[in-house]
Formats: sequence, structure tokens, C-alpha cells
Amino acid sequence: MDEATTVYMRSFAETDGDEALREALQRSQAAGIPAVPPETGALLRWFARLVSARHVAEIGTGGGYSGLWLLGGMDPRGTLTTIDLDAEHQAIAQSMFARAGRGDRVRMILGPALGVLPRLADASYELVFVDAAKSEYPDYLEHAKRMLRPGGLVMADNVLWGGRVAGATTDSDTEGLRRFNDAVREDPELDAVILPVGDGLLAAVREAAT
Ligand SMILES: C[S@@+](CC[C@H](N)C(=O)[O-])C[C@H]1O[C@@H](n2cnc3c(N)ncnc32)[C@H](O)[C@@H]1O
Repeated sequence: MDEATTVYMRSFAETDGDEALREALQRSQAAGIPAVPPETGALLRWFARLVSARHVAEIGTGGGYSGLWLLGGMDPRGTLTTIDLDAEHQAIAQSMFARAGRGDRVRMILGPALGVLPRLADASYELVFVDAAKSEYPDYLEHAKRMLRPGGLVMADNVLWGGRVAGATTDSDTEGLRRFNDAVREDPELDAVILPVGDGLLAAVREAAT
């Protein structure tokens, strides 16, 4: 996408002068933590609002930037559960959630995602956002499906991985993302699209029980 179009799209990701969001992005960048771009953040907020999410799980807290977007769209009584294995990242995120006045709506869990996820409840979340180790995305999908309520959404960032997923690259991150996308596409219980926003955002809805 050309630069002018990206800037134009970002005008729809207005933060209404939300200082906490701006600061979370700055702090993430200063600490070298990759964060979703604003237009991806705006989509996360939009999807959280669409499903009136009260229970959201995030795999990959980073500096709290995507978490703040999610909280912005969630039901005001909703809780974000967010996992990261890096204590410094979570400390930054915690201060950003507090700065936004939303610290009481966040449950932060420190640890490797594949160690933490088995402890999270079945069929309890309206949205699971995946943004941690790319090679582990297929394993995250298994947990996300178990954790989602019928009609819930699994969303994942970086699914195009700068064009490598659709190309011939075979490193473990690219392979993990490719296997994740394939597993979602072939799953009869998931209906998915890949939105060409940022580095590719996958959104899949889990079929409601019939
Ligand atoms: C891309 S950053 C998350 C950015 C955040 N979602 C945002 O947009 O603001 C990825 C995060 O995943 C964490 N991470 C990487 N591997 C992990 C793992 N196996 N378990 C838990 N967290 C992991 C990293 O420490 C990093 O903070």
C-alpha cells in the first residue's frame, strides 16, 4: 500500500487525543517492542465493540498498545486477560493500563503462552487476539478454539509476514504462520478472512452452536 493511502486510512484510526494510547505506542517503540500499527489497533477496537466483548484474551501483551485499543471497544465491565513472558514488557504495559485508568480491567499473566493457556477457561471468551511467537501460532489456535464462546472471534496479527507467508520462505516463524493460516482455512468451525491491514490481520468467527 502506498504511503498516502496508509496516511489516509490512519485518519480513520483517530484516537480523539487519547494520550495513553499515544504514550503506549511511544513507550513500545522506545523499548524496541513491536506494536500493531494504529489502523490494526482501530480494527481490534471495532471488532471488540462489534461483539460487545466482556472477556478478551491477548497472547502477546508487548507494551500494552494493542490491549488499550481492545479495551477501548470492549464492554465497560469487560476484562482483558493478557499474557507475555517478558516481565519488562508487562511492566511497561501495566503502567500504560494504569495511565489510561484501566488497570482494574486487566488481568496480566507473566509466563510462556503455552504454559499459561491451558489454565484459561473453556468457552469463556468473545475474542482471542494472537500476537506472540509466530512459530507457536498453530498451538495458540488450538487453545483459542477451546477458549472461545460460540460466535466468538479469533484474531491474529502478522499473518502475511511481509509477503513471506505467500512466498517460498521456510524459516520457523514463516512456517508457523503458514500452518496457522492453513489450519484456520481448513477448519469447518471457523469462517475466516485475512484483512490486508498492517502486516495482515486474520479474523475468524467460530460458528455458533446449532
Ligand atoms: C509483537 S509483541 C506484542 C505487541 C502487542 N500485542 C501490541 O501490539 O502492542 C510480541 C510479544 O510477545 C511476547 N512473546 C514472545 N514469545 C512469547 C511466548 N512464547 N509466550 C508469551 N509471550 C511471548 C514478547 O515478549 C512480546 O512482548
